[in-house]
Amino acid sequence: MIHVDRYEQAWIRITILILIAFIGAVIVAGVASGIQVPSAYQRVDPKALSEPGSPWAEPGLRELAPGKYEAYILSQIWSFVPNEMRVPVGSEVTFYVTSRDVQHGFKIVDTNINMMVLPGQVAKLKTTFARPGTYNIICHEYCGTLHHTMYAQIIVE
Ligand code: CUA
Repeated sequence: MIHVDRYEQAWIRITILILIAFIGAVIVAGVASGIQVPSAYQRVDPKALSEPGSPWAEPGLRELAPGKYEAYILSQIWSFVPNEMRVPVGSEVTFYVTSRDVQHGFKIVDTNINMMVLPGQVAKLKTTFARPGTYNIICHEYCGTLHHTMYAQIIVE
């Protein structure tokens, strides 16, 4: 048997308890608030976004089925296209976001959508708007002089 000092043993136990608490917190947060980890869904040529056949040539909402939408959103300095969308309450919306120029952010306040948007990559996440109201979309990756003015809104009615 290796001799471990009494205080050393106590600190080892405390460390293990803290680790268990942290892992528990991550599991609770992930399950309870539905945290989604964004990943690189698809590659796209940032120079071809306006070409016919590209879903970003006419960005915006499309209804797939009653209450189910997809939203193709283009990020560019310093705006989102479109910058206003309306959906009925309870709608499930899948967002496909890409950038025409530099790195942007895409966070919908009060939802579990929070993504980094890179030129050449498509960021995809889905959320359900259970409560009516105006949801702000903000760019939260610094993208130049007017970064702070880059936002859009989703109106849930
Ligand atoms: Cu776009 Cu900051």
